[in-house]
Amino acid sequence: MKQIKWMICYVPLFQKFLACVCHPPNVFTTLTMENVTLVPLTWNWTEPNAVSCARNCLLTYRSCYSFIYSKLTRRCISGSWLIPSHQSRDIHSGDLYTKGAFCGKNFTVKTENGFAACLRVFKNKVNYTSARSHCKDIGAELYTMKSFEKKSILHNEVIAINESVWIGLDDLKTEGRFEWADDGTPLDADMKIKMFTKGEPNNYDDEDCVSYTPSAGLDDRSCSFKKPYVCELKPISLV
Ligand SMILES: *[C@@H]1O[C@H](CO)[C@@H](O)[C@H](O)[C@H]1NC(C)=O
Ligand SMILES: *[C@@H]1O[C@H](CO)[C@@H](O)[C@H](O)[C@H]1NC(C)=O
Ligand SMILES: *[C@@H]1O[C@H](CO)[C@@H](O)[C@H](O)[C@H]1NC(C)=O
Ligand SMILES: *[C@@H]1O[C@H](CO)[C@@H](O)[C@H](O)[C@H]1NC(C)=O
Ligand SMILES: *[C@@H]1O[C@H](CO)[C@@H](O)[C@H](O)[C@H]1NC(C)=O
Repeated sequence: MKQIKWMICYVPLFQKFLACVCHPPNVFTTLTMENVTLVPLTWNWTEPNAVSCARNCLLTYRSCYSFIYSKLTRRCISGSWLIPSHQSRDIHSGDLYTKGAFCGKNFTVKTENGFAACLRVFKNKVNYTSARSHCKDIGAELYTMKSFEKKSILHNEVIAINESVWIGLDDLKTEGRFEWADDGTPLDADMKIKMFTKGEPNNYDDEDCVSYTPSAGLDDRSCSFKKPYVCELKPISLV
């Protein structure tokens, strides 16, 4: 049961967050939900209103997907995804705002050290292009791991299948420049060193797409190889 009271939208034209009625993306909604827990991020503030609470959360954390704001205490508690729990959340601490709430029925939320992701592993084997377009067809993207926490989340999900899976990373556009498939941002140089298997990427035989193997890490492979893949439901980035 969810009851939408109002929304906070980022309006690119004014470069402002406004309380208004609008459609995703960049929307927070206040929800009345039973039995959810907010995965808290590391900081909480005092803010004059919920709009500035939303703004600060979004500008500070890439993973700001929800927050609790209390009109009474003006306390703004930033958080990432909500996770289902058996106990009711502490509704006395304020109103719960969320950007997408639960993962859809077909995705599971997994958390690691304050980071969270909605993901789903597909075990049928397809090439990179088909994997990417299937994720898009279901409103998702190939999984990305722009943090080591998200690498752990993926690792724990795929360790059981002990096989390499497609994730959303490739250098199809420019050889040697790896980009995340969801938004085209480049792979951080430090992560490139730490996340790839030793000796990779090697572009052996023009390999432009990246897979993750639980026992080894990232490896560049030929995009036409068929592998299981992982989709991620993206909770909207700041414009
Ligand atoms: C937020 O900060 C206040 C004041 O420092 C503290 O009392 C409260 O426990 C904090 N809440 C969370 C969820 O960290
Ligand atoms: C919420 O949790 C309480 C306590 O575990 C339980 O009695 C109640 O049925 C739950 N509500 C929902 C909607 O799951
Ligand atoms: C979940 O997956 C099933 C089967 O693929 C599909 O029919 C259904 O629409 C999906 N549900 C949602 C909420 O996406
Ligand atoms: C996982 O696969 C690798 C390579 O195929 C194999 O060497 C290893 O023993 C496997 N591990 C498990 C736990 O099955
Ligand atoms: C990927 O698979 C699809 C469907 O089988 C095929 O049409 C496409 O040409 C393949 N692409 C690559 C790069 O192998």
